[in-house]
Amino acid sequence: METFLILIAFWASAITAAFHNLLVGTFATKSIYTLSFDDETYELIGLANTSTPFGSSWLTLSADKHTLYGTAWDIQPAVFVSYAVEEEGLTLTHQANIKAGGDCTGSAISVLAAVDPPYAVYGNLYYREARCGTVFSVDPETGALGGGGVEGGIVQNYTYGEAGSGSAVHGMTWSATIAGVVYSADTGGNAIWTHTRDNDTGALSLVDKLDLPEDRMGGHCGPRHLAAPRQGNYLYVVCEASSKVVQLSLNQDEFQTPNATAVAAKQWPLLPEHDNDGNPYNAADYWADEVLLSASGDWMWASNRAHDRGRQGYVSVFRMQAEDGDVTSQVFLQPTATSGGFANAIAPSPFDDRFAALTENVTGSVEIWRLADNNQSASVVAHLDIPDGEGCCANVVWYS
Ligand SMILES: *[C@@H]1O[C@H](CO)[C@@H](O)[C@H](O)[C@H]1NC(C)=O
Ligand SMILES: *[C@@H]1O[C@H](CO)[C@@H](O)[C@H](O)[C@H]1NC(C)=O
Ligand SMILES: *[C@@H]1O[C@H](CO)[C@@H](O)[C@H](O)[C@H]1NC(C)=O
Ligand SMILES: *[C@@H]1O[C@H](CO)[C@@H](O)[C@H](O)[C@H]1NC(C)=O
Ligand SMILES: *[C@@H]1O[C@H](CO)[C@@H](O)[C@H](O)[C@H]1NC(C)=O
Ligand SMILES: *[C@@H]1O[C@H](CO)[C@@H](O)[C@H](O)[C@H]1NC(C)=O
Repeated sequence: METFLILIAFWASAITAAFHNLLVGTFATKSIYTLSFDDETYELIGLANTSTPFGSSWLTLSADKHTLYGTAWDIQPAVFVSYAVEEEGLTLTHQANIKAGGDCTGSAISVLAAVDPPYAVYGNLYYREARCGTVFSVDPETGALGGGGVEGGIVQNYTYGEAGSGSAVHGMTWSATIAGVVYSADTGGNAIWTHTRDNDTGALSLVDKLDLPEDRMGGHCGPRHLAAPRQGNYLYVVCEASSKVVQLSLNQDEFQTPNATAVAAKQWPLLPEHDNDGNPYNAADYWADEVLLSASGDWMWASNRAHDRGRQGYVSVFRMQAEDGDVTSQVFLQPTATSGGFANAIAPSPFDDRFAALTENVTGSVEIWRLADNNQSASVVAHLDIPDGEGCCANVVWYS
C-alpha cells in the first residue's frame, strides 16, 4: 500500500511514451488496482489501489476510455457498475450500479461496451438460471450506466433460449467487419449466438444460433470467449470444457453468421498431449480461459488454467495469416507459474504485438509476457505481486 502511494509522485513526473497503464479487477475483494508498465526497462509497478463497492470479475473500458464498466460478481441479485476514469486510470470514481434485468438468478459475469453510438453496454450472467442478457443505456455526457432518458437505465432485457435450457453466456465479441453484429459465447448452452444491434437504441435482435456439434468439435466445447479477426472470414472460440481453440468459418452474408457446415475445420489444443511421466493430460482437469488477437491482429494469444492448484496453466500463441485471418501455426504452448486459479486471463497489449499481461489469483499477481526476438517462444519480463487474499487478480484492461 505504501509503495502504491509513493509511486504516484514518481509516476506523475515520469510519463513518457514508454509507460503503459493497466487496470486490474478482483474477485472476492473490493479493489481496482492501477499499474504502470515501462516497455523499455520492463518495470511493472503499482500506482493506485482504489477501494470499490464490489469486486469485478470482469472490467472493460468505454470506447473513449472515460468510463470503466464492471461486473459485481459476488452479489445477488446480479449488478453491473461503472466508474469515471481520470488521470490515465489513476483516479477511478464510482458512478452507478444497475441490477441486471429479466427474471434470472445468475451472477454478473461479463460486460461489453459498444464501440460506436449509442454506446450501450451489454451485461451477461453465469451460474444458476443465467440466460438473461441486459442492454444498459449510458449517460451521453459521462458514460455512466443508465441515463440518456431511458427509464431505469435498461434499454432491453433479452434471453438466450428457453427457461431451463442451461444457456449462460460468458463473453460477447463485436464483428470486426460489420458494425453492430455481435457474437455471444454460450458456455452453458454449447452454442454461438449472432445478434444485430439497433443503431438508435442499442437493443439486440437475434439473427442466428449455432449449436456446436460435439462430433466435429472433438467433444463438448463449452465456448467461453471469442476472437474475431479483421478479415471477417473466421471466428475463433476458446473451449472451456475441451481446452481447445476452434476455428469457425463465417458465411459471407449480411451478418457473417458462423457457417454450420464448415464448423471446426481446424482446432488446436491448449494442453500438451502428455505430462513428463508420459501420462495423458485430461481436459476435465482444466477450464480454458481466453482467446484474443494482438494489436495488429497478426498474432493470437490464448490461455488455459487448471482446476486444482497442484497443476499449471498454459499460454499459447498463434501466428495469423495477414490475407485471410486463418492460423498459419500454433507457435508454442508454455506453462504458467500457477494454475491461474479463477483467472490466467491473458490480455495482449494495444501497443505492441509482442507484449501481453497475465493475471492469476492463486498468489495474486500480474505478469507481462513478451515474445522472444525470434517470435518462437515467450518469457515473463515483469511480475508484480498483489496479494490481497485471493481476490486479485481477475482481468487486466490496458488503459494505454
Ligand atoms: C488495497 O486496499 C484495500 C483496502 O484498504 C486493502 O484491504 C488491500 O489489502 C489493499 N491491497 C494491497 C495489495 O495492498
Ligand atoms: C427489465 O427487467 C427489469 C427487472 O425485471 C424490469 O424492471 C424492467 O422494466 C425491464 N425493462 C425492460 C425495458 O424490459
Ligand atoms: C449503424 O451504425 C454503424 C456505425 O456507426 C454504421 O456503419 C451502419 O451503417 C449503421 N447502420 C444502419 C442500418 O444505419
Ligand atoms: C458453408 O460451408 C460449406 C462447406 O465449406 C460451403 O459449401 C458453403 O458454401 C458455406 N456457406 C456459405 C453461405 O458460405
Ligand atoms: C480465486 O478467486 C475465487 C473467486 O473469489 C476463489 O473462489 C478462489 O478460491 C480464488 N483462488 C484460487 C486459487 O482459485
Ligand atoms: C516478431 O514479431 C514482431 C511483431 O509482429 C515483428 O515486428 C518482428 O519482425 C518479428 N520478428 C521476426 C524475427 O520474425
